[in-house]
Amino acid sequence: MAYDVDNAARSLEQADPRDIIREAVAGFDRIALSFSGAEDVVLVDMVADLGGDVQIFCLDTGRLHPETYRFLDKVRDHYGMDIELMFPDAEAVQQLVREKGLFSFYRDGHQECCAVRKIEPLRRKLATVDAWITGQRRDQSPTRAEVPVVQNDRAFSAPGHPLVKFNPLANWSSEQVWAYIAEYQVPYNELHERGFKSIGCEPCTRPVAPHEHERAGRWWWEAATQKECGLHITNIREADIKPVRESA
Ligand code: ADX
Ligand code: SF4
Repeated sequence: MAYDVDNAARSLEQADPRDIIREAVAGFDRIALSFSGAEDVVLVDMVADLGGDVQIFCLDTGRLHPETYRFLDKVRDHYGMDIELMFPDAEAVQQLVREKGLFSFYRDGHQECCAVRKIEPLRRKLATVDAWITGQRRDQSPTRAEVPVVQNDRAFSAPGHPLVKFNPLANWSSEQVWAYIAEYQVPYNELHERGFKSIGCEPCTRPVAPHEHERAGRWWWEAATQKECGLHITNIREADIKPVRESA
């Protein structure tokens, strides 16, 4: 029987992230957590604590900070859990770089490079599961202000393969995340100690000043309302979203 997303969204709306993860794991055998190597490490900690059968993966764009690579290994060792690295298609990266160089995103916008380095590998991974878990929070940006705790992922679903997306931290603030990290002594990316709040690829991320919004340091040359790379594109174009399978 199909998973009742509307009912789950209603009943879990105010639930603790751990209960949302528990419900997600109970509902799906094939489920994966997408871990960016930033403060969403709290989800890794929660998954490790619950002991469910959740795959963990990270999209290795080839452009992450050295600190993030080191952190990924630290997390793997700390929890004794595998973190599957998803790599982009080598030929697609070579073609992009051959045609446009290594920094085309500063001229053309980040969508093209993200499509090659993030979206295609993500699509490949999501084709193997029925649900995924992300660290999106409503307080992260204007594009995420209405992120539900659970939703149908219309961007990555395919005919005959519906995909459900859980956002257990949707209701949590940054302060709650960092209180959890402190309380449970969760390892964190050392870049956070150098002014980085939201962390993505090295050329597309910079530290933010205390008064700035946390995603001001991501793709800072682009408008705040466009700051989604395609992983969470439904946040921008909920009404007329085209399946990413066809458009990426
Ligand atoms: S992004 O779309 O702008 O890059 P952000 O960095 O805010 O996203 O992270 C939100 C969530 O998207 C993360 O908690 C994680 O679930 C997922 N995510 C982002 N980047 C990656 C990545 N490189 N690998 C795996 N998941 C990622
Ligand atoms: Fe490319 Fe920047 Fe997107 Fe990373 S965040 S995939 S470097 S455009």
